[in-house]
Amino acid sequence: MNEVRFDGRVAIITGAGGGLGRSHALELARRGAHVLVNDLGGSLDGVGSSDSAASRVVEEITAFGGVAAPNHDSVATPDGGESIVQSAVDAFGRVDIVINNAGILRDRSFHKMDAAMIDAVIDVHLKGALYVSQPAFRLMREQRYGRIVNTSSASGLFGNYGQANYGAAKAGLAGLTRVLAIEGSAHGIKVNAIAPIALTRMTQGILGDLAAKVSPDSVSPMVAYLASEECAVNGNVYSVAGGRLARILVVETHGVVLHENTLEMISENISAIDELDPLRLLEPLSLDEESTIIAKAVSEAW
Ligand code: NAI
Repeated sequence: MNEVRFDGRVAIITGAGGGLGRSHALELARRGAHVLVNDLGGSLDGVGSSDSAASRVVEEITAFGGVAAPNHDSVATPDGGESIVQSAVDAFGRVDIVINNAGILRDRSFHKMDAAMIDAVIDVHLKGALYVSQPAFRLMREQRYGRIVNTSSASGLFGNYGQANYGAAKAGLAGLTRVLAIEGSAHGIKVNAIAPIALTRMTQGILGDLAAKVSPDSVSPMVAYLASEECAVNGNVYSVAGGRLARILVVETHGVVLHENTLEMISENISAIDELDPLRLLEPLSLDEESTIIAKAVSEAW
């Protein structure tokens, strides 16, 4: 296969001043994309700001002959989102790709988590992706082409102790991915997500033996694929780490229709409701598809 290029394409990458976002920015710029390198430049828990993170990555890109511009707005407000998209338009004339990657952590067991920790994390990860994607999505609809890649996490999709705020935001990003995939599909827009694992400041000291095998640049090829014209999928979420790639699914069991739908009958049938028979698993691709499955099951049972 010929090298996949991004010549003429403009990509916004949020939180691209370090870690995974920096790696995605370098990968797309090496392949010819014009990249808006956004980063607020604060600490891991989202305190403070600095222009240097984004500017350093822009310098790295221009040093190898790539094209990039810095942006230092926060993704976490509607004005910030508008300003980020406007910066890309001002610098490069259009927006083809948004990679929602900016993130912070404020971990604490749920019974000790305060409202500020909930707000800060949901604002950056979940609202940030909405605020940056929306103005870009409007442009993508007009030009009938776009790619959005969201950054979810195993924490939200599978669960992780001490991350109620972060997990909720990351699961929300998987939901956002599904909805935007449906809304964008008639307009040439594809929206997918990754759940990565990589050694960055966010995971320093917690990955054990895996740390040596999961560099950020092992995640960027999948992000580049999902951001490219080659991308053949829409609405999917991929586990991406150290060169291992897998699709994460939202499926449901075949289920049961109880003729006597009471608490007691549910208790007696909970194993049948939960039964994980791989041959009978269902993967509805929208609310409409699930409604059809329910209607069929109910009408067959009665
Ligand atoms: P990182 O801390 O190196 O990168 C996050 C970047 O986002 C930072 O450069 C930070 O300055 C920027 N940022 C934070 N708040 C911002 C705001 N309001 N506006 C603009 N930029 C902001 O961490 P890492 O690991 O590279 O994380 C990237 C993404 O990947 C995050 O969304 C994270 O939750 C996600 N992720 C990372 C995993 C890992 O194993 N490293 C695992 C699962 C998800």
